[in-house]
Amino acid sequence: MSIQTLDDLAVQGTTLGVRIDINSPLTESGDLADDARLRAHVDTVSELLERGGKVAVLAHQGRPGGDDFSGLSPHAERLDELVPFPVSHCDATFSEDARTAVGNLHDGEAVVLENTRFYSEEYMEFPAEKAAQTHLVDRLVPKLDAYVNDAFAAAHRSQPSLIGFPTRLPGYAGRVMERELDVLGDIKGTPRPRVYVVGGAKVSDSIAVAENVLERDLADYVLTAGVVGNVFLFADGADLGDVSADFIHEQGYWDYIDDAVNLLETYRDRIHLPKDAAVERDGKRAELTRDEFPPEEDEAAMDIGSATINAYSEILRDAGTVILNGPAGVFEDDAFAKGTRELYTEAANAEYSIVGGGDTAAAIRKFDLGGFDHVSTGGGACLRMLTGEPLPAVEALSR
Ligand code: 3PG
Repeated sequence: MSIQTLDDLAVQGTTLGVRIDINSPLTESGDLADDARLRAHVDTVSELLERGGKVAVLAHQGRPGGDDFSGLSPHAERLDELVPFPVSHCDATFSEDARTAVGNLHDGEAVVLENTRFYSEEYMEFPAEKAAQTHLVDRLVPKLDAYVNDAFAAAHRSQPSLIGFPTRLPGYAGRVMERELDVLGDIKGTPRPRVYVVGGAKVSDSIAVAENVLERDLADYVLTAGVVGNVFLFADGADLGDVSADFIHEQGYWDYIDDAVNLLETYRDRIHLPKDAAVERDGKRAELTRDEFPPEEDEAAMDIGSATINAYSEILRDAGTVILNGPAGVFEDDAFAKGTRELYTEAANAEYSIVGGGDTAAAIRKFDLGGFDHVSTGGGACLRMLTGEPLPAVEALSR
Protein backbone atom coordinates (compact mmCIF):
# COMPACT_ATOMS: atom_id res chain seq x y z
CA MET A 1 0.00 0.00 0.00
CA SER A 2 1.62 3.25 -1.02
CA ILE A 3 0.87 6.39 0.93
CA GLN A 4 2.31 9.85 0.41
CA THR A 5 4.00 11.43 3.42
CA LEU A 6 5.01 14.97 4.33
CA ASP A 7 8.20 14.37 2.35
CA ASP A 8 6.02 14.42 -0.79
CA LEU A 9 4.17 17.65 0.08
CA ALA A 10 5.21 21.14 -1.06
CA VAL A 11 3.98 22.96 2.05
CA GLN A 12 4.99 26.62 1.66
CA GLY A 13 1.98 28.91 1.33
CA THR A 14 -0.62 26.13 1.24
CA THR A 15 -3.64 25.75 3.50
CA LEU A 16 -3.82 22.28 4.98
CA GLY A 17 -6.63 20.42 6.73
CA VAL A 18 -4.75 18.43 9.36
CA ARG A 19 -6.70 15.71 11.20
CA ILE A 20 -5.11 14.82 14.52
CA ASP A 21 -6.35 12.71 17.44
CA ILE A 22 -6.21 14.69 20.67
CA ASN A 23 -9.10 12.85 22.31
CA SER A 24 -7.86 12.99 25.90
CA PRO A 25 -8.91 12.20 29.45
CA LEU A 26 -10.43 15.27 31.11
CA THR A 27 -10.70 16.35 34.74
CA GLU A 28 -14.15 16.85 36.29
CA SER A 29 -13.86 20.56 35.56
CA GLY A 30 -13.18 19.84 31.86
CA ASP A 31 -9.44 20.53 31.80
CA LEU A 32 -6.97 18.17 30.16
CA ALA A 33 -5.95 15.43 32.58
CA ASP A 34 -3.23 14.20 30.24
CA ASP A 35 -1.63 15.89 27.24
CA ALA A 36 0.23 12.92 25.76
CA ARG A 37 -1.85 12.81 22.61
CA LEU A 38 -1.27 16.50 22.00
CA ARG A 39 2.47 16.04 22.47
CA ALA A 40 2.45 13.21 19.94
CA HIS A 41 1.27 15.57 17.18
CA VAL A 42 3.67 18.43 17.95
CA ASP A 43 6.21 17.23 15.37
CA THR A 44 3.70 17.11 12.54
CA VAL A 45 2.04 20.44 13.30
CA SER A 46 5.35 22.21 13.97
CA GLU A 47 6.92 20.84 10.80
CA LEU A 48 4.01 22.03 8.66
CA LEU A 49 4.09 25.51 10.24
CA GLU A 50 7.86 25.72 10.05
CA ARG A 51 7.65 24.88 6.36
CA GLY A 52 5.29 27.83 5.85
CA GLY A 53 1.90 26.10 5.87
CA LYS A 54 -1.41 27.38 7.20
CA VAL A 55 -2.91 24.65 9.34
CA ALA A 56 -6.62 24.04 10.03
CA VAL A 57 -6.69 21.37 12.74
CA LEU A 58 -9.60 18.92 12.74
CA ALA A 59 -10.12 16.74 15.81
CA HIS A 60 -12.69 15.20 18.14
CA GLN A 61 -13.11 14.88 21.89
CA GLY A 62 -15.29 12.17 23.44
CA ARG A 63 -18.46 10.63 22.12
CA PRO A 64 -21.91 12.26 21.98
CA GLY A 65 -23.62 11.87 25.36
CA GLY A 66 -20.39 11.06 27.23
CA ASP A 67 -19.04 13.08 30.17
CA ASP A 68 -15.92 13.92 28.19
CA PHE A 69 -17.79 15.14 25.11
CA SER A 70 -16.61 18.74 25.05
CA GLY A 71 -15.09 21.57 23.07
CA LEU A 72 -11.46 21.85 22.03
CA SER A 73 -10.53 25.16 23.60
CA PRO A 74 -8.28 23.58 26.32
CA HIS A 75 -6.64 21.48 23.62
CA ALA A 76 -5.94 24.54 21.46
CA GLU A 77 -4.47 26.40 24.45
CA ARG A 78 -2.16 23.51 25.24
CA LEU A 79 -1.10 23.12 21.59
CA ASP A 80 -0.30 26.82 21.53
CA GLU A 81 2.07 26.21 24.46
CA LEU A 82 3.64 23.11 22.92
CA VAL A 83 4.10 24.29 19.33
CA PRO A 84 6.54 27.15 18.69
CA PHE A 85 4.05 28.90 16.37
CA PRO A 86 0.71 30.63 17.03
CA VAL A 87 -2.25 28.27 17.51
CA SER A 88 -5.76 29.66 18.08
CA HIS A 89 -9.17 28.10 18.64
CA CYS A 90 -12.32 28.65 16.60
CA ASP A 91 -15.67 27.91 18.17
CA ALA A 92 -17.02 26.45 14.89
CA THR A 93 -16.18 23.45 12.70
CA PHE A 94 -17.28 24.29 9.15
CA SER A 95 -19.73 27.21 9.34
CA GLU A 96 -18.90 30.62 7.90
CA ASP A 97 -17.03 31.51 11.12
CA ALA A 98 -14.83 28.46 10.71
CA ARG A 99 -14.21 29.11 7.03
CA THR A 100 -13.35 32.74 7.76
CA ALA A 101 -10.92 31.66 10.49
CA VAL A 102 -9.23 29.30 8.03
CA GLY A 103 -9.20 31.93 5.29
CA ASN A 104 -7.57 34.48 7.65
CA LEU A 105 -4.61 32.26 8.54
CA HIS A 106 -1.12 33.49 7.64
CA ASP A 107 1.77 31.22 6.74
CA GLY A 108 3.03 29.57 9.93
CA GLU A 109 -0.28 29.88 11.83
CA ALA A 110 -2.74 27.22 12.97
CA VAL A 111 -6.36 27.24 14.07
CA VAL A 112 -8.03 24.36 15.93
CA LEU A 113 -11.59 24.03 14.62
CA GLU A 114 -14.29 22.89 17.07
CA ASN A 115 -14.92 19.23 17.95
CA THR A 116 -15.88 17.52 14.68
CA ARG A 117 -18.34 15.30 16.58
CA PHE A 118 -20.47 18.30 17.54
CA TYR A 119 -21.74 17.75 14.01
CA SER A 120 -24.04 14.72 13.74
CA GLU A 121 -22.83 13.26 10.43
CA GLU A 122 -19.32 12.99 11.86
CA TYR A 123 -20.44 10.32 14.28
CA MET A 124 -21.64 8.06 11.44
CA GLU A 125 -19.67 5.53 9.46
CA PHE A 126 -19.65 6.06 5.68
CA PRO A 127 -18.08 4.71 2.50
CA ALA A 128 -15.41 7.18 1.36
CA GLU A 129 -17.42 8.52 -1.61
CA LYS A 130 -20.36 9.35 0.67
CA ALA A 131 -18.14 10.82 3.36
CA ALA A 132 -16.66 13.07 0.70
CA GLN A 133 -20.09 14.62 0.08
CA THR A 134 -20.95 15.38 3.73
CA HIS A 135 -21.47 18.97 4.87
CA LEU A 136 -18.23 19.12 6.83
CA VAL A 137 -16.08 18.02 3.90
CA ASP A 138 -18.06 19.91 1.28
CA ARG A 139 -17.78 23.25 3.07
CA LEU A 140 -14.14 23.03 4.07
CA VAL A 141 -12.69 21.61 0.85
CA PRO A 142 -12.80 24.96 -1.06
CA LYS A 143 -10.65 26.49 1.70
CA LEU A 144 -7.98 23.77 1.60
CA ASP A 145 -5.16 22.81 -0.78
CA ALA A 146 -4.39 19.42 0.74
CA TYR A 147 -5.27 17.11 3.62
CA VAL A 148 -2.91 15.54 6.13
CA ASN A 149 -4.07 12.68 8.33
CA ASP A 150 -2.01 12.22 11.47
CA ALA A 151 -4.90 10.76 13.52
CA PHE A 152 -3.72 7.17 13.61
CA ALA A 153 -5.67 6.64 16.84
CA ALA A 154 -8.95 7.24 15.00
CA ALA A 155 -7.95 5.53 11.74
CA HIS A 156 -10.32 2.60 12.42
CA ARG A 157 -13.31 4.93 12.06
CA SER A 158 -14.96 5.68 8.70
CA GLN A 159 -16.03 9.15 9.69
CA PRO A 160 -16.09 12.13 7.32
CA SER A 161 -13.13 14.02 8.79
CA LEU A 162 -11.06 10.83 8.49
CA ILE A 163 -11.96 9.44 5.09
CA GLY A 164 -13.94 12.14 3.24
CA PHE A 165 -11.19 14.65 2.45
CA PRO A 166 -8.65 12.50 0.56
CA THR A 167 -11.25 11.68 -2.09
CA ARG A 168 -11.39 15.37 -2.99
CA LEU A 169 -7.93 16.64 -2.03
CA PRO A 170 -4.41 15.24 -2.23
CA GLY A 171 -3.94 13.25 0.99
CA TYR A 172 -0.75 12.70 3.04
CA ALA A 173 0.18 10.80 6.18
CA GLY A 174 1.54 12.95 9.01
CA ARG A 175 4.58 11.87 11.03
CA VAL A 176 2.61 10.00 13.71
CA MET A 177 0.63 8.08 11.11
CA GLU A 178 3.78 7.27 9.15
CA ARG A 179 5.62 5.93 12.22
CA GLU A 180 2.69 3.85 13.44
CA LEU A 181 2.17 2.23 10.04
CA ASP A 182 5.87 1.38 9.79
CA VAL A 183 6.09 -0.22 13.24
CA LEU A 184 2.71 -1.94 13.46
CA GLY A 185 2.67 -3.15 9.86
CA ASP A 186 4.57 -6.32 10.57
CA ILE A 187 3.01 -8.18 13.52
CA LYS A 188 3.36 -11.55 11.82
CA GLY A 189 7.10 -11.12 11.95
CA THR A 190 7.26 -10.66 15.73
CA PRO A 191 8.48 -13.45 18.05
CA ARG A 192 6.17 -16.07 19.57
CA PRO A 193 4.54 -16.93 21.83
CA ARG A 194 2.50 -13.79 21.22
CA VAL A 195 0.36 -12.61 24.13
CA TYR A 196 -2.43 -10.05 23.91
CA VAL A 197 -3.47 -8.40 27.17
CA VAL A 198 -6.94 -7.02 26.55
CA GLY A 199 -8.24 -4.77 29.31
CA GLY A 200 -9.83 -1.37 29.79
CA ALA A 201 -13.41 -0.41 29.08
CA LYS A 202 -13.70 -0.39 25.27
CA VAL A 203 -15.47 -3.74 25.30
CA SER A 204 -16.85 -3.71 21.76
CA ASP A 205 -13.44 -3.09 20.18
CA SER A 206 -11.69 -5.56 22.46
CA ILE A 207 -14.09 -8.43 21.74
CA ALA A 208 -13.69 -7.92 18.00
CA VAL A 209 -9.95 -7.91 18.35
CA ALA A 210 -9.88 -11.03 20.50
CA GLU A 211 -11.98 -12.80 17.89
CA ASN A 212 -9.72 -11.72 15.03
CA VAL A 213 -6.39 -12.55 16.63
CA LEU A 214 -7.64 -15.94 17.75
CA GLU A 215 -9.22 -16.78 14.41
CA ARG A 216 -6.14 -15.76 12.46
CA ASP A 217 -3.84 -17.55 14.85
CA LEU A 218 -1.99 -14.34 15.61
CA ALA A 219 -2.45 -14.81 19.36
CA ASP A 220 -1.12 -17.67 21.44
CA TYR A 221 -2.79 -16.23 24.52
CA VAL A 222 -5.43 -13.57 25.18
CA LEU A 223 -5.37 -12.39 28.79
CA THR A 224 -8.55 -10.54 29.71
CA ALA A 225 -8.72 -7.90 32.44
CA GLY A 226 -10.48 -4.63 33.30
CA VAL A 227 -14.10 -4.26 32.20
CA VAL A 228 -13.36 -6.62 29.30
CA GLY A 229 -12.33 -9.29 31.83
CA ASN A 230 -15.53 -8.64 33.79
CA VAL A 231 -17.61 -9.20 30.65
CA PHE A 232 -15.84 -12.53 30.04
CA LEU A 233 -16.39 -13.53 33.67
CA PHE A 234 -20.13 -12.88 33.39
CA ALA A 235 -20.10 -14.79 30.08
CA ASP A 236 -18.47 -17.69 31.90
CA GLY A 237 -21.23 -17.75 34.52
CA ALA A 238 -19.38 -15.91 37.30
CA ASP A 239 -21.41 -13.44 39.37
CA LEU A 240 -19.40 -10.25 39.88
CA GLY A 241 -22.30 -8.56 41.67
CA ASP A 242 -24.88 -5.94 40.80
CA VAL A 243 -22.63 -2.88 40.68
CA SER A 244 -20.35 -4.37 38.02
CA ALA A 245 -23.33 -5.84 36.13
CA ASP A 246 -25.15 -2.48 36.19
CA PHE A 247 -22.06 -0.71 34.88
CA ILE A 248 -21.83 -3.12 31.94
CA HIS A 249 -25.56 -2.65 31.22
CA GLU A 250 -25.30 1.15 31.42
CA GLN A 251 -22.40 1.19 28.98
CA GLY A 252 -24.42 -0.96 26.54
CA TYR A 253 -21.91 -3.83 26.79
CA TRP A 254 -24.28 -6.55 27.95
CA ASP A 255 -24.98 -7.30 24.27
CA TYR A 256 -21.40 -8.54 23.98
CA ILE A 257 -21.84 -11.29 26.55
CA ASP A 258 -23.07 -13.68 23.82
CA ASP A 259 -19.99 -12.95 21.72
CA ALA A 260 -17.80 -13.64 24.72
CA VAL A 261 -19.65 -16.94 25.33
CA ASN A 262 -19.02 -18.00 21.73
CA LEU A 263 -15.34 -17.10 21.94
CA LEU A 264 -14.97 -19.08 25.15
CA GLU A 265 -16.62 -22.09 23.53
CA THR A 266 -14.24 -22.03 20.57
CA TYR A 267 -10.94 -20.85 22.09
CA ARG A 268 -11.14 -21.74 25.77
CA ASP A 269 -7.52 -22.97 25.77
CA ARG A 270 -6.14 -19.62 24.60
CA ILE A 271 -8.41 -17.13 26.43
CA HIS A 272 -7.58 -16.54 30.08
CA LEU A 273 -10.04 -15.10 32.57
CA PRO A 274 -9.39 -13.36 35.89
CA LYS A 275 -9.25 -15.79 38.81
CA ASP A 276 -10.10 -13.15 41.39
CA ALA A 277 -11.12 -9.51 41.77
CA ALA A 278 -10.29 -6.60 44.05
CA VAL A 279 -13.11 -4.57 45.58
CA GLU A 280 -13.25 -1.69 48.04
CA ARG A 281 -14.30 -2.91 51.50
CA ASP A 282 -14.20 -0.74 54.63
CA GLY A 283 -12.24 1.87 52.69
CA LYS A 284 -9.53 -0.63 51.72
CA ARG A 285 -8.65 -3.03 48.90
CA ALA A 286 -10.02 -6.52 49.51
CA GLU A 287 -9.47 -9.47 47.17
CA LEU A 288 -12.10 -12.14 46.46
CA THR A 289 -11.36 -15.38 44.65
CA ARG A 290 -13.90 -16.57 42.13
CA ASP A 291 -15.24 -19.05 44.72
CA GLU A 292 -15.97 -16.10 47.00
CA PHE A 293 -18.01 -14.18 44.39
CA PRO A 294 -20.38 -12.34 44.40
CA PRO A 295 -19.00 -9.22 46.07
CA GLU A 296 -21.34 -7.46 48.52
CA GLU A 297 -24.14 -5.43 47.02
CA ASP A 298 -22.34 -2.05 47.01
CA GLU A 299 -18.99 -3.43 45.82
CA ALA A 300 -17.61 -3.25 42.26
CA ALA A 301 -14.76 -5.26 40.76
CA MET A 302 -12.06 -2.56 40.47
CA ASP A 303 -8.93 -4.57 39.67
CA ILE A 304 -7.65 -8.09 39.16
CA GLY A 305 -6.36 -9.77 42.32
CA SER A 306 -3.08 -11.49 43.22
CA ALA A 307 -4.00 -14.94 41.87
CA THR A 308 -4.71 -13.45 38.44
CA ILE A 309 -1.57 -11.31 38.57
CA ASN A 310 0.54 -14.40 39.32
CA ALA A 311 -1.05 -16.54 36.62
CA TYR A 312 -0.81 -13.81 33.96
CA SER A 313 2.75 -12.87 34.97
CA GLU A 314 3.87 -16.43 34.41
CA ILE A 315 2.55 -16.34 30.84
CA LEU A 316 4.07 -12.91 30.22
CA ARG A 317 7.47 -14.05 31.50
CA ASP A 318 7.73 -16.60 28.66
CA ALA A 319 6.29 -14.33 25.96
CA GLY A 320 8.18 -13.46 22.77
CA THR A 321 5.83 -10.59 22.00
CA VAL A 322 3.39 -8.83 24.32
CA ILE A 323 0.71 -6.51 23.04
CA LEU A 324 -0.80 -4.49 25.86
CA ASN A 325 -4.11 -2.78 25.38
CA GLY A 326 -6.09 -1.29 28.23
CA PRO A 327 -5.47 -1.27 31.96
CA ALA A 328 -6.30 -4.20 34.26
CA GLY A 329 -8.30 -2.05 36.68
CA VAL A 330 -9.00 1.44 37.94
CA PHE A 331 -5.28 2.28 38.02
CA GLU A 332 -5.95 5.97 38.65
CA ASP A 333 -6.87 4.94 42.23
CA ASP A 334 -3.71 3.71 44.00
CA ALA A 335 -5.62 0.96 45.80
CA PHE A 336 -6.53 -0.56 42.44
CA ALA A 337 -3.35 0.13 40.47
CA LYS A 338 -1.59 -3.08 41.48
CA GLY A 339 -2.86 -5.33 38.67
CA THR A 340 -2.01 -2.87 35.93
CA ARG A 341 1.38 -1.98 37.43
CA GLU A 342 2.51 -5.57 37.90
CA LEU A 343 1.36 -6.85 34.51
CA TYR A 344 2.89 -3.90 32.71
CA THR A 345 6.18 -4.27 34.56
CA GLU A 346 6.34 -7.89 33.46
CA ALA A 347 5.37 -7.01 29.88
CA ALA A 348 8.14 -4.39 29.62
CA ASN A 349 10.69 -7.20 29.97
CA ALA A 350 9.37 -9.22 27.03
CA GLU A 351 11.58 -9.68 23.99
CA TYR A 352 9.29 -7.41 21.97
CA SER A 353 6.55 -5.25 23.44
CA ILE A 354 3.90 -3.00 21.97
CA VAL A 355 1.65 -0.73 23.96
CA GLY A 356 -1.62 0.53 22.52
CA GLY A 357 -4.28 2.86 23.82
CA GLY A 358 -4.53 6.26 25.46
CA ASP A 359 -5.34 4.81 28.90
CA THR A 360 -2.58 2.25 28.55
CA ALA A 361 -0.01 4.91 27.71
CA ALA A 362 -1.28 7.04 30.62
CA ALA A 363 -0.79 4.09 32.99
CA ILE A 364 2.76 3.63 31.75
CA ARG A 365 3.53 7.24 32.49
CA LYS A 366 1.92 7.01 35.92
CA PHE A 367 4.09 4.02 36.83
CA ASP A 368 7.10 5.54 35.08
CA LEU A 369 7.75 2.36 33.11
CA GLY A 370 10.18 2.25 30.20
CA GLY A 371 11.58 -0.46 27.97
CA PHE A 372 8.66 -0.91 25.56
CA ASP A 373 9.55 -1.21 21.87
CA HIS A 374 6.63 0.84 20.63
CA VAL A 375 4.07 2.93 22.49
CA SER A 376 1.24 3.48 20.04
CA THR A 377 -0.99 6.53 20.14
CA GLY A 378 -3.90 4.27 19.16
CA GLY A 379 -6.11 1.97 21.20
CA GLY A 380 -8.76 0.38 18.97
CA ALA A 381 -6.84 1.50 15.86
CA CYS A 382 -3.63 -0.10 17.08
CA LEU A 383 -5.24 -3.44 17.80
CA ARG A 384 -7.28 -3.38 14.59
CA MET A 385 -4.08 -2.88 12.67
CA LEU A 386 -2.30 -5.60 14.60
CA THR A 387 -5.00 -8.06 13.59
CA GLY A 388 -4.30 -7.29 9.95
CA GLU A 389 -7.71 -5.66 9.44
CA PRO A 390 -7.69 -2.69 7.04
CA LEU A 391 -8.02 0.75 8.59
CA PRO A 392 -10.48 2.88 6.60
CA ALA A 393 -8.57 6.13 7.11
CA VAL A 394 -5.37 4.50 5.89
CA GLU A 395 -7.13 3.01 2.89
CA ALA A 396 -8.56 6.44 2.07
CA LEU A 397 -5.06 7.92 2.08
CA SER A 398 -3.76 5.24 -0.25
CA ARG A 399 -6.40 5.78 -2.90
C1 3PG B 1 -9.62 6.72 20.70
O1 3PG B 1 -9.57 7.35 21.76
O2 3PG B 1 -9.42 5.49 20.64
C2 3PG B 1 -9.84 7.47 19.44
O3 3PG B 1 -9.82 8.83 19.67
C3 3PG B 1 -11.12 7.05 18.80
O4 3PG B 1 -12.17 7.37 19.64
P1 3PG B 1 -13.56 6.56 19.51
O5 3PG B 1 -13.30 5.19 20.01
O6 3PG B 1 -14.53 7.34 20.37
O7 3PG B 1 -13.94 6.59 18.06
